[in-house]
Amino acid sequence: MSKKNYITTPIYYVNDVPHIGNAYTTIIADCFSRYNKLMGVPSFFLTGTDEHATKIAAAAHSKGLDPKDFVDNLSASFRKVWQDLDIEYDDFIRTTEPRHKDVVQAIFKQLLDQGDIYKGTYKGWYCSPCETFFLESELVDGCCPNPECRRPVQLVEEENYYFRLSAYGDKLLAYIREHPDFLMPESRKNEVVGFIKQGLKDVSITRRNTGWGIPVPGDEGMVIYVWFDALINYISAAGYLSDADRFTSLWPADLQLMGKDIFVRFHSTFWPAMLMALNLELPKHLIGHGFWTINGEKISKSKGNAVSPAQMAQELSEKSGASPEVSRDVVRYYLARETTFGVDGDFSFDTFYGRYNSDLANDLGNLLNRTLGMLSSYNDGKLPAPCQGELRKEICDAQTAYVRGMEAFAPNQALDAVWTMINAGNKFIQDKAPWQLKKEGRKEELGSVMFSALETIRAAAIMISPFMPNTSKEILKQLGLSGRPLLWDDIICSDPFENAGEVKAQPIFPRIGGKGQAKDTKPEKQAPAAEEKKEEYISIEDFAKLDLRVGKILSAERIEGADKLYKLTVDMGSETRTICAGMAPFYEADYMVGKSIVVIANLQPRKIRGVVSHGMMLAGEDENGVKFLSPEAELAPGSKIR
Ligand code: MSP
Repeated sequence: MSKKNYITTPIYYVNDVPHIGNAYTTIIADCFSRYNKLMGVPSFFLTGTDEHATKIAAAAHSKGLDPKDFVDNLSASFRKVWQDLDIEYDDFIRTTEPRHKDVVQAIFKQLLDQGDIYKGTYKGWYCSPCETFFLESELVDGCCPNPECRRPVQLVEEENYYFRLSAYGDKLLAYIREHPDFLMPESRKNEVVGFIKQGLKDVSITRRNTGWGIPVPGDEGMVIYVWFDALINYISAAGYLSDADRFTSLWPADLQLMGKDIFVRFHSTFWPAMLMALNLELPKHLIGHGFWTINGEKISKSKGNAVSPAQMAQELSEKSGASPEVSRDVVRYYLARETTFGVDGDFSFDTFYGRYNSDLANDLGNLLNRTLGMLSSYNDGKLPAPCQGELRKEICDAQTAYVRGMEAFAPNQALDAVWTMINAGNKFIQDKAPWQLKKEGRKEELGSVMFSALETIRAAAIMISPFMPNTSKEILKQLGLSGRPLLWDDIICSDPFENAGEVKAQPIFPRIGGKGQAKDTKPEKQAPAAEEKKEEYISIEDFAKLDLRVGKILSAERIEGADKLYKLTVDMGSETRTICAGMAPFYEADYMVGKSIVVIANLQPRKIRGVVSHGMMLAGEDENGVKFLSPEAELAPGSKIR
């Protein structure tokens, strides 16, 4: 059986339904898995539930329920949540299933027989929410040292079985050194190396049997530690010791994803050491992603601030009028695009709606609506004849950058590439002025513009499909391409619309209006053809996103190899910044020094001709040339402009 690309998520504790933080791992994993399928790579995606934690038994007992009935219910509700978010997993493992328990017990026995597990007495501080033992020296103010937890710990002394983790420190360090892409991102890899170098202690892997957990084979007064049990899911589900063919087709995993809280100690140290003890290959890539906060605050049950993906989708749908399917896609899109995979992200409804309006209603929605509007206004709604599309270079460039992003596990970069192409499509329509071509009867050119725009929107629909599967299908349906397989290699082809059905335009992303606009928001109307396009407004919230400041130019110098650019050093009040500006054709450098200017201070830094520009200065243009903007009277550097 040929090897499949095997992707895993952590298995979830079933004590609560997922909020956007823990749904994130699964959504991104699903995007990678769908990307593989799009590229024609056989993929296998595993997720599941971690059901033997002591806190789960405690939660069941506090509700007067039998733990097994309790987890059966909760595990089913997890599946439902994933189904509602269009997560297409290939297998769902539960640690209470016999196929998993049998493998855990067999592994325990094997490692005991070969000396990697031994019996001894253990005394340590136990954090029940994290299911982790700590040394006294590791505690912070007597509490759990995990920065995401910091709850009280209990002193526990037990006779236990231990896993000989201490024997694996050097082997792990050597492996990490020899496989630079094994642990990602780099910053977290360094954390792992630091942790291992401090010296690894053997890990207690059993607990007293209180009726919940997998019993130790031959010593049923004890159960196996929940992390030892849980980590094995990645191989028990893959058929280890039960289905050799399946195991060969899946293991080693290609991509194991998890949050940073469970990356260092468990997935990058304990787990690979267990695999080494079993003489199994290690996964190709382990990625520890960042944490989501909500409005700058840690997501916490006690604060009651958790937002579920279902709630995000529902609120968006009510506010905008977008369909529930599309709204669910927007949640997936937002989480993948908003932050670089690996670093922390902050969610707020404002940024969520802002991204919806700018990227989806404005950019993608606009391209779709204008393109189909053109067809209906200039071609009786019929698809034009195929020709050599004028945006093929932009499409090919997007394909290259997209693949580069996905292969580097940077989904936001892949999406950036798609949006560069979408924006090129919108600009193309504007520049080509199809209404003018129509007026002047330039039929062939008009056909080419329509075809090029259509080809671009079709390419966008295929490229977004791993992230926004419903939206992708809806766009293709509107282009008359329903039910066709999505093929990456087919993005540029001689006749993309061969045998296409009827074109049916239906706006997908109704714009959200100003703040406070709620359930009464009506869906937008079909956008008119480009020349009749009404003026578009932005909300005050959109404007408030710009951080406009006064800056004072301290120096201006030419950038080598760039005719138009100055490298400016600008006093921004609390800091000095470098800003590149295309002012050289219009001003002498000396004239600019000492002038006050208006700067967009929160523009993403950009490298221009080898110089990183932190912000942009504003200028206006008329037939007499370009003039930069300056305050009417002296304003101190750093002053906010509103
Ligand atoms: N059961 C263990 C994993 C065992 S894997 C062999 C567990 N479960 S969990 O339900 O607590 O967490 C599941 C995932 O959600 C983890 O990847 C965790 O890092 C992630 N997240 C939990 N809160 C999060 C945020 N606020 N932000 C991003 N990810 C978050 O740990």
